[in-house]
Amino acid sequence: MVKVLFVCLGNICRSPTAEGVFRELVRQQSLQSHIHVDSAGTHAYHIGEPPDSRAQQAAARRGVDLSMLRGRKAEPRDLEEFDYVLAMDEQNRQHLLSIAPVGTAPKIKLFMSYAASRREPEVPDPYFGGGRGFEVVLDMLEEACAGLLADIQHNHLDS
Ligand code: 4NP
Repeated sequence: MVKVLFVCLGNICRSPTAEGVFRELVRQQSLQSHIHVDSAGTHAYHIGEPPDSRAQQAAARRGVDLSMLRGRKAEPRDLEEFDYVLAMDEQNRQHLLSIAPVGTAPKIKLFMSYAASRREPEVPDPYFGGGRGFEVVLDMLEEACAGLLADIQHNHLDS
């Protein structure tokens, strides 16, 4: 089983959206028994909360249901458990590095490094912006999710 964790600040906008989009991709490819998907936040502001309603609505318009997801905080043991720990921005990545047990830092990557055609290294935080920010985020996440699935298939699943 390959385990993927998406990480942002609050775990109510970017990382649950990435989780939902990637889950859907995994489901479409019937890879649920091979790839485990989760998300977490670097801060505790929104533990136990569902994703932001704007994120839920934007994802729903693309056929992705986020309603069952709940916020949680990233823990050092996540770095031991997960194979891919994918930060939405540099601040998230630095936080993860600061809690990473010895030897786990190489698992931490900026998620946008999987979006081949994009130059932006970070997924912008849509929380304090307008509704269009969530569409921009979804476009970016969809592309990075496709690149991530190709990477996992190439490195872990192809026989
Ligand atoms: P996220 O967005 O990191 O994409 O979930 C945010 C959600 C909440 C806050 C900041 C960013 N906040 O400051 O509460």
